[in-house]
Amino acid sequence: MTRKEALDSVRENVENENSVKHMLATEAIMRALAERLGEDEDEWGLTGLLHDIDMELTEGDMSSHSKLGADLVREMGASEAVAHAILAHNEAHGVPLEMKLDKALFCADPMTGLITAAALVRPDKKLASVEAKSVRKRFKEKSFAAGANREQIATCSELGIELDEFLKLGLKAMQGIAGELGL
Ligand SMILES: [Fe+2]
Repeated sequence: MTRKEALDSVRENVENENSVKHMLATEAIMRALAERLGEDEDEWGLTGLLHDIDMELTEGDMSSHSKLGADLVREMGASEAVAHAILAHNEAHGVPLEMKLDKALFCADPMTGLITAAALVRPDKKLASVEAKSVRKRFKEKSFAAGANREQIATCSELGIELDEFLKLGLKAMQGIAGELGL
């Protein structure tokens, strides 16, 4: 599956532009993580790009979210590793995070919300004016972007990456696609 095929399929299944942007941001963070860890950037990027493809199809039903997604990406020709990471990223299924790819998606997913919120409180609402130290500060403010699960983000340690480094990596990755994100 090419990246274009994956993105076309995301756009066919997800109408909400913010959801598509969330998947693009997750893709960027996943690619950066793969580069940092010497893993397959294309495979990790695809995992991020496709991970919530069933978001609207499952209409908020967490018992089917990511199960359907895993089936869809398998049908599209994604590897079993990609399908497994997508299935496991929804804790509701109780599927253990076994591979590095599973862990990477799990910790990258909530980070997009934290960094997007950090940009939106800047006067210019731009990612370019967000500094790593302010992301770190916001991380510690529990009420800020409360939906961005801090514990989940902090599981980057299971990949051998310290939180500070991970926050910096995520910010830089999202800044790299700021235009696409409209931030
Ligand atoms: Fe997500």
